[in-house]
Amino acid sequence: MGETNLSQFGITFKGSGSYIPKQILTNEDLSRIVDTSDKWIKTRTGISKRRISSIHESVCQMGYEAALRAMEMANWSPDTIDLILLATSTPNDLFGSAPRIQSKLGAKNATAFDLTAACSGFLFSLITGAQYLQNGSFKRALIIGADQLSSYVNWLDRGSCILFGDGAGALAIEASDDINNFYGFQMKTDGERGGFLNLSVCGSEEEIIDDIKVNKGKFSNITMNGQEVYKFAVREVPIVIDNLLKQLNYNSSEVDWLLLHQANQRILDAVGERLNIPKEKVLSNLNNYGNTSAGTIPLMLDESIRNKKVKQNDLIATSGFGAGLSWGAALFRWG
Ligand code: ACO
Repeated sequence: MGETNLSQFGITFKGSGSYIPKQILTNEDLSRIVDTSDKWIKTRTGISKRRISSIHESVCQMGYEAALRAMEMANWSPDTIDLILLATSTPNDLFGSAPRIQSKLGAKNATAFDLTAACSGFLFSLITGAQYLQNGSFKRALIIGADQLSSYVNWLDRGSCILFGDGAGALAIEASDDINNFYGFQMKTDGERGGFLNLSVCGSEEEIIDDIKVNKGKFSNITMNGQEVYKFAVREVPIVIDNLLKQLNYNSSEVDWLLLHQANQRILDAVGERLNIPKEKVLSNLNNYGNTSAGTIPLMLDESIRNKKVKQNDLIATSGFGAGLSWGAALFRWG
């Protein structure tokens, strides 16, 4: 549970950026791979197309492009950045990809590391970054969400391959002596239900010398129990947002925008309805990109800021949810 009243510094939001890969995969294209149709996918998910990254659009590259744009909007020079967090489940390097983005940006004074929490990854990274800023350890942070799930999708599984796409987004946040626009958060995980959505190691045993076997590292495709994930999201997300609003003494009618992890339009609609937030206030770009995992929240926010839908001082309730299972919410004002 978030404790904003113990903070020494406030948080302000200074910039946003995003990157979407060039290749477009439509529902029609998918219907040539698996037994599905544009109509089925649109009706059940709200998705029409998604972006698929090429070999030149790795998580590092996409994350770098998004971070660069956020840094430019914030008008920061690279050497003034203290912290770079990369939310990803699909790093270029399991030892960490954030330092590579740091080096590409020329942010030589920053500390950079990865954080993995699937589709909650961006929210968890934003909350983590905010702690360092609030307690005075760092002043400027870039929070990046980037994923390339297309590398791990089973393209013959019609129950999951229709949902996912690739992309990245980033936010630039700064500690402030006198303004606080990050009001609070809640975070939750439940490993008991972790088997509903996985991207697991499927290592094979390899004997390296007599009687000593190693588990050779390799990842299997994404496996998902779609119905259970759906029920989990529709039940838990309204509860966590409602609890957060109550904790912070806000009413859902005061929220300007509901910024949910983009998983399925029916999940977005159901959460909005349960919170009594009208459809026009529920941000959605699922139609174009599908579920880009840790990328969705900053990608959606960046688009909304750049097309002037979200304005300075707008109140935003955000929620990430997904594998782990993990979920959470945060309330903040843009600016
Ligand atoms: N095209 C056509 N038919 C399909 C397809 C498809 N792509 N997929 C499933 N079907 C069929 C099923 O076989 C089933 O047929 P049957 O009735 O003859 O058995 C029927 O459609 C209904 O299947 P359901 O699984 O009940 O379909 P549902 O309405 O639940 O939609 C979906 C499936 C879209 C996967 C939905 O459950 C969902 O969105 N779940 C949430 C998944 C999610 O958001 N995951 C990501 C979380 S974030 C993260 O951390 C990565």
